[in-house]
Amino acid sequence: MHFNSLSRRHFARIAAALGLPTLPAEPLRAASHRDDRPTDRRFPDGFIWGTATSAFQIEGAVSEDGRGPSIWDRYAHIPGKIADGSDADVACDHYHRDTEDVQLMKALGTTAYRFSIAWPRLFPDGLGAPNPKGLAFYDRLVDELLANGIAPFATMYHWDLPQALQERFGGWRSRDTAEVFADYVAYAAGRLSDRVRHIFTVNECARLVQLGYGLGYDAPGLTLPQGELNQVRHHVALGHGLAVQAVRAHGRPGTKVGPAENIVACIPAFDAPAHVRAAEIATRELNAGYLTVMLEGNYTDAFLASAGADAPKYTAEDLAIIASPIDFLGLNVYKPDQYAVAADNEAGFALAPLPTSFPHMYSDWLRVAPEAMYWSPRHAARLWNVKSIYITENGTSATDEVDADGRVWDLDRVMYLRNYLTQLQRATAEGVPVQGYFLWSLLDNFEWQDGFEKRYGIHRVDFKTQVRTPKLSADFYRETIRRNGVA
Ligand code: FCB
Repeated sequence: MHFNSLSRRHFARIAAALGLPTLPAEPLRAASHRDDRPTDRRFPDGFIWGTATSAFQIEGAVSEDGRGPSIWDRYAHIPGKIADGSDADVACDHYHRDTEDVQLMKALGTTAYRFSIAWPRLFPDGLGAPNPKGLAFYDRLVDELLANGIAPFATMYHWDLPQALQERFGGWRSRDTAEVFADYVAYAAGRLSDRVRHIFTVNECARLVQLGYGLGYDAPGLTLPQGELNQVRHHVALGHGLAVQAVRAHGRPGTKVGPAENIVACIPAFDAPAHVRAAEIATRELNAGYLTVMLEGNYTDAFLASAGADAPKYTAEDLAIIASPIDFLGLNVYKPDQYAVAADNEAGFALAPLPTSFPHMYSDWLRVAPEAMYWSPRHAARLWNVKSIYITENGTSATDEVDADGRVWDLDRVMYLRNYLTQLQRATAEGVPVQGYFLWSLLDNFEWQDGFEKRYGIHRVDFKTQVRTPKLSADFYRETIRRNGVA
């Protein structure tokens, strides 16, 4: 037995003996007198509050209504690849429970939802004839969201590449994949942008390249040498640019489009002007392969010099495509990546080594530094003069023990969210143009190689019964949204 559950029972017994009330089974409601506190950490009026998910992680129904297999279906079924031996064949069964899940969003008070469209539902072979039944699901979902006052924000690619394209082109190793990606985006934008007014191109280019093609932890599980990896990187960035152009050409006028990138978060060791400047320079260099080229239209000199003979092959036209003007920047912010300090060297910065004792959340990789949420959008706004930013993901895994009443008191997740949101509020109060926040995630779901072992939801999902239960963090988020300020 874990000490925590022992102590909880122990205190419950003492409470009962003293006649004190035990923990409420009902969600906690904040007292109304708090509303008027002058110190309330308020967000700008009209700030958008949402939750985020991705198709492969929640939908299930992998062979229904003509959906083709994706690289993640294949990968998840290779023995040993997923920590708990699970797959996403059913996942959260969202494909059949979308109506119920929209009601969860409504109960939170969210006004937006970021979901992804499964390319293999719309084009089972990745290209060729579209599958109308696949589109019909998203048509229904979008209508359901709008009927409940929730604006749909759709991601076009959240890693579930049609398996057929892996076989035919080698996936993102070939620029053909970038080109057929644009065809799929053109079709999806053409059909949905009368209602879906915000589109994200690619989710986390950086991770899909590094983990999928470099380290082999994500599908398709390759470990390419540096030169080939840089070429994959270039094709993914190109895919983003072509997708922006496809939305412009085929979406309804005024449809807004941008990337959702996991910015390499560079934080000044502390807030002194020289370290802040160093962190800004580091942000530009360490994001050279994605955000910098997308926003500046060039690979930086340092990036090309350090790649040397392994630099990607590209044309000036490619760079212009990659840098197609975007309407907003989506940033996924979870953790600090680097701490920068001023340095008297050519680069203009140095990176401080991260101590092994640096704290992290339940997932080892999820180092916790709320200030990443302040500096990341601030650096992006200053470096690239970005006028509109969305935080497209932020959240954490937690152990999420269930108590006797079926409640999850995920105080660690609440602590994490409260602190990150406090830093986001600090940024907006200083005028950093962040317009909305999407919490990862609405539901516990299939967490890639971690399978179902790492839960990120603010609703618990019992994967045997598919019952969804709000956690304490859902109550926290509802209250934050209600007051438009950190609860
Ligand atoms: C991000 C992914 C998302 C989820 C979270 C925890 O890198 O975009 O799908 O896995 O991490």
